[in-house]
Amino acid sequence: MWYYYGNKRSIVQDYYAPEYDTIIEPFCGAAHYSLFGDHWERKVILVDKYPVVARLWKWLVKDATPQEILSLPDLKKGDKVDDISSLCEEERNLIGFFINRGVATPAHTVANYSSWNEKTRQNIADTLPKIRHWEVIEGSYEDVPNQLATWFIDPPYQYGGEHYKCPNKDIDFTKLAEWCKSREGQVIVCENTKADWLPFRPLVKMSGQKHDTVEAIWTNKKYVEELF
Ligand SMILES: C[S@@+](CC[C@H](N)C(=O)[O-])C[C@H]1O[C@@H](n2cnc3c(N)ncnc32)[C@H](O)[C@@H]1O
Repeated sequence: MWYYYGNKRSIVQDYYAPEYDTIIEPFCGAAHYSLFGDHWERKVILVDKYPVVARLWKWLVKDATPQEILSLPDLKKGDKVDDISSLCEEERNLIGFFINRGVATPAHTVANYSSWNEKTRQNIADTLPKIRHWEVIEGSYEDVPNQLATWFIDPPYQYGGEHYKCPNKDIDFTKLAEWCKSREGQVIVCENTKADWLPFRPLVKMSGQKHDTVEAIWTNKKYVEELF
């Protein structure tokens, strides 16, 4: 939805399409996989441990109306979101994720790279009616029961995922690897090529704000052979 730090917006088309009626993103962030193409039509379960992200999704899915989004104010460079007293917390956080690019927490001041504009508000307003059936869990990835689904697993990078509020250092990657392997259905795990907690394979080059990285993937069973 937004230009989140580490989001998969620019490469989402490079991943396998979902093969199950349910998509689960246990590290959802801005949930670009579930929003891509017609993926949103499926049953979608989003999980994130960072309360700002989980509560923003809950609000978008259940409470925010297209009219409300369209009536949010335009902002210019240097404006401060906290100065607009009429905004609720979720509105502030939503705007905060758009007024600077690639941030891991909502920004407070409008930067050069703001994408908070009429087109953005229209896109969000158009998306809301499509996602009313989604489910959102504020919690850790293990909180969602194992079930037959397409699992799009995009944790903070083992090397590079330091900047999140819920960062890589809090993740036991050995345990996460076992958890990924034990999911039922189609499993797609995202990383970069520096990671070694699963046998990742290179997928596509990605240009970051500071460095270029090579995105990597691990998928279960038959998908591996089809891919490479
Ligand atoms: C790489 S981002 C996901 C990006 C997302 N795929 C996108 O396209 O925007 C990783 C997310 O995992 C969340 N996270 C970190 N530790 C977690 C945990 N133990 N359980 C669930 N979510 C966690 C972070 O808060 C962050 O939002």
